[in-house]
Amino acid sequence: MSTTWFITGTSSGFGRILTERLLRRGDRVAATLRRPEALDDLRALHGDRLWVGRLDVTDAEQVRTVVDQAFKALGQIDVVVNNAGYGVFASVEEATDEQIRSVIDTNLLGSIHVVRAALPHLRAQGSGHILQVSTAGGQAVYPNFSYYHASKWGIEGFSETVAREIAPFGIRLTIVEPGATPTGFGPSLDTAPVMPEYENTPAGDVRRAVADASFVLPNDPGRIADAMIDLVDSGRAPLRLPLGSDTYDDVQSALAARLAEHESQRDVAYSVVKDAATP
Ligand SMILES: NC(=O)c1ccc[n+]([C@@H]2O[C@H](COP(=O)([O-])OP(=O)(O)OC[C@H]3O[C@@H](n4cnc5c(N)ncnc54)[C@H](OP(=O)(O)O)[C@@H]3O)[C@@H](O)[C@H]2O)c1
Repeated sequence: MSTTWFITGTSSGFGRILTERLLRRGDRVAATLRRPEALDDLRALHGDRLWVGRLDVTDAEQVRTVVDQAFKALGQIDVVVNNAGYGVFASVEEATDEQIRSVIDTNLLGSIHVVRAALPHLRAQGSGHILQVSTAGGQAVYPNFSYYHASKWGIEGFSETVAREIAPFGIRLTIVEPGATPTGFGPSLDTAPVMPEYENTPAGDVRRAVADASFVLPNDPGRIADAMIDLVDSGRAPLRLPLGSDTYDDVQSALAARLAEHESQRDVAYSVVKDAATP
């Protein structure tokens, strides 16, 4: 049975590949992006199964308008993919205020705007599956990505909460966590002038590793798009979908370390309870 998808950030990378694959198999897509002309080739191929909306996710008013228009044009929308996003690659002191504001506006607030705009429609339908694109860096951390992590850890907390709130309405939410994948993401990383003070720190190490020609992005973007489609087709909606051996291993290590650290503080945690025995 054909499904209908709403996707943000469809000019390149996962958003574009997902749109292509869905259209190729006969689904309908409301593809949104800042530069609609980037989809002219797909419009020519797929006619009215492709609905295109100009959308910058940082503009909350525009998000509401475009989401409303898409539901009106397509009737029912089964899947909403919050995909638009990018990374700032700089140590904590190197990034500018504007770089920080912009990445939070896009990755965190942009995704929140889309969810809030879509929910009245999904509630009225009594169904829907939101795919929130996060990253391995939504649960693990890498020096030089602190602001990207702030945006993605933020959207993970938001999404996990919202998943509980909307389940009673028959709406599901899955946080998709791709690992490092060759898309437009690497080339469009927003960088800042390097501070020499950070050269011989973990931030400098990561910068050198990423600049090294042998740095490998292990995952296949087409397979990541297919895994998202397969998940929706399966009817399952796990809270998280880790995609990539790097995501799996890095998140596994991060969670194990967090749990060990958490457990090591048990006595302190319990010591502040009102009726705790004094040591
Ligand atoms: N590739 C990876 O290694 C990787 C790993 C984990 C997670 N991710 C996540 O995957 C998602 C997609 O990234 P990608 O890898 O496919 O990179 P990409 O090829 O650079 O695609 C990013 C898309 O987001 C759009 N975008 C950025 N800011 C926007 C805004 N304010 N409003 C609307 N669209 C905006 C871009 O549009 P423009 O063309 O207009 O800039 C582009 O279409 C992101 O959320 C990213 O964090 C990527």
